[in-house]
Amino acid sequence: MMSKGDTYAAITATASSVPAKVLTNHDLSLVVETSDEWIRTRTGIGERHAVVDGEYTSTFCINVARQLLEQSGLAAEQLDLIIVATCTPDYPLPATASLVQDAIGASRAAAFDLAAACSGFVYALTTGTQFITSGAYKNVMVIGAETLTRFLDWQDRSTCVIFGDGAGGVLLQASKQESGIISFILASQGNCADMIIIPGGGSRRPPSAESLAEGQHFIKMKGNKVFELAVRVMSNEVRVVLDRAGLALSDVDLFVPHQANIRIIDAVARQLELPIEKFFHNIEHYGNTSAASIPIALAEAVEKGLIKPGGIICMGAFGGGLTSGCLVLRWNPTVVR
Ligand code: ACO
Repeated sequence: MMSKGDTYAAITATASSVPAKVLTNHDLSLVVETSDEWIRTRTGIGERHAVVDGEYTSTFCINVARQLLEQSGLAAEQLDLIIVATCTPDYPLPATASLVQDAIGASRAAAFDLAAACSGFVYALTTGTQFITSGAYKNVMVIGAETLTRFLDWQDRSTCVIFGDGAGGVLLQASKQESGIISFILASQGNCADMIIIPGGGSRRPPSAESLAEGQHFIKMKGNKVFELAVRVMSNEVRVVLDRAGLALSDVDLFVPHQANIRIIDAVARQLELPIEKFFHNIEHYGNTSAASIPIALAEAVEKGLIKPGGIICMGAFGGGLTSGCLVLRWNPTVVR
């Protein structure tokens, strides 16, 4: 489905980078009224990485980009496009992708950020793929990156225990061998925009002494409403993409879902009547890293040898917007020209 003139967009390298600083549940229990037991049983999170002064979203994107170039042997000048999926960019302007482009010396590359919150990587991978299958570009870098701990109200225990920082990414390259996205679905329910929101700092409520005092620059989330919708939408979208691809649930070798909450992943597995072992998860160590969670998980799954050439991988995500997205792809990392 995703090929025009038999050009496919193969993922040829995967990488991740997270801050060195680790915040355990115990650390958080010293700041807000919570406990390791509550956080583990309600979310599956044990610890998360958090930036310190001098570390930004671009810091981890640049680390990821350098690893991707090194792994693939591609020169930075050969890159055609860099997409950074993030809702926590270094600046409102310019795009973080432009900072990455400059830092790695990708002098020929176009660069832009994509904002779809936790669904950002699924949106960006789908977008990057279009540039390759259309024949426009040959080498596209897709990175998901967040520093959500910079936008947390450390007195709001319902959000500050959930999120973590980091980046993950992939290199997409044109290949003549069947590879990459077979089918996808991207969706949005903008009527639920207020369910996950940073209300201040944009054009509607520009930063002011008042907006800061009211904490409008912090993320606010209606957690349990999002939870219910996430399970329903993610399970449904898996069925839709598999149907579009002409595949059965049993054809999927590994699900790499957005790491929002282990109970969401468990519930999706139950809805689909699949064993939890089919779903890769590492939320225990990273928390919810929003757009970075799928590429961080993917890089780890590849490193652990859980993804093999020819394998069928399914990724699904759900988050602020509300946005959602799911795709199924064939893993064939070798480029055939
Ligand atoms: N420690 C202890 N107690 C807590 C904590 C905490 N950290 N947080 C909340 N509680 C309390 C609440 O105050 C409440 O107490 P009450 O019953 O006395 O009022 C109780 O626990 C239950 O609160 P809920 O909000 O109903 O807890 P829930 O089981 O729903 O878990 C959570 C909350 C973890 C946020 C869950 O709803 C969730 O994971 N939602 C989905 C989040 C998600 O997927 N977001 C999408 C991506 S985010 C993005 O796009 C950037």
